[in-house]
Amino acid sequence: MKISNSWRNLLENRNLSREKVAEQLGISTEDVRALRRIIKIEKKPLGNFRETGIAAWDIHYPEHNKECIEILLDFTKDLQPDYFILGGDQLDLGCISVFNQGKLKLLENKRLKEEYDGFQRDILDRFEKVLPRKCRKLFMMGNHEDRVERLLECEPQYIGLIEIEKNLNLKKWKIIPNNEVFSIGNINFIHGCYTCKYHANKTLSVYGDNVFYGHVHNNQSFTQTTKIENQPQRATAVGCLCNKNPEWMRGRPNSWTHEFLHFSVFGDGNFSPHIETIINGRCEINGKI
Ligand SMILES: [Fe+2]
Repeated sequence: MKISNSWRNLLENRNLSREKVAEQLGISTEDVRALRRIIKIEKKPLGNFRETGIAAWDIHYPEHNKECIEILLDFTKDLQPDYFILGGDQLDLGCISVFNQGKLKLLENKRLKEEYDGFQRDILDRFEKVLPRKCRKLFMMGNHEDRVERLLECEPQYIGLIEIEKNLNLKKWKIIPNNEVFSIGNINFIHGCYTCKYHANKTLSVYGDNVFYGHVHNNQSFTQTTKIENQPQRATAVGCLCNKNPEWMRGRPNSWTHEFLHFSVFGDGNFSPHIETIINGRCEINGKI
């Protein structure tokens, strides 16, 4: 985007607070922050500028895999990323699922309040503690987080009480609604929506750009290079961090894998993705176990 000189002068004046600039330009403080970031990126030599990030999908708390969470936590502490993305289905919310209605055994001891409090304590607080102060934290909604909305459609008397934002401390997180895209340079993130056999092919054909997603809990990638762009584009599904055999699967075999993504994005928008696979609670990254 083109930023006019008069705007640029105001945005680059570090003596002016973000609030003051927002007031003078008639835009939000969030927009000021984003524009200041664009200017900062423009000034860096393209080849040298690099930001790092971590993205993890499908934790399904309280059905999370504790060993996987510990590995991700250790790696996060080590990398000190610029971006930390929870890609959706962080919460399982089985206790309010329509699929579990009337199934008293499945609902035994499951409480929405405990699920929220536990996720805050065991996941959000622990990651916030190790993430650098300037890290941009994204909380993407998945189809499981949508269960709250589905319940409120039927039981509107609970509006204002049971929403995720009312029960988790997400003040420092940017919330991305389900099915919306979050982009950094040429890399795009979604929760994921297709579960067909060749979901990566389908996702790439619909989104038409590099996209990483979860939702299916398994790994699949599809790449294509168009004659005009002459650059490969890929859609890649990254595995999950939940237990691979929750009660509702009733022991059925599945192709779920334990994985997370970390990446670098360079000043020209190009990126370098790395998917780490965890098998039986063990994972080697850069020669370290
Ligand atoms: Fe999921």
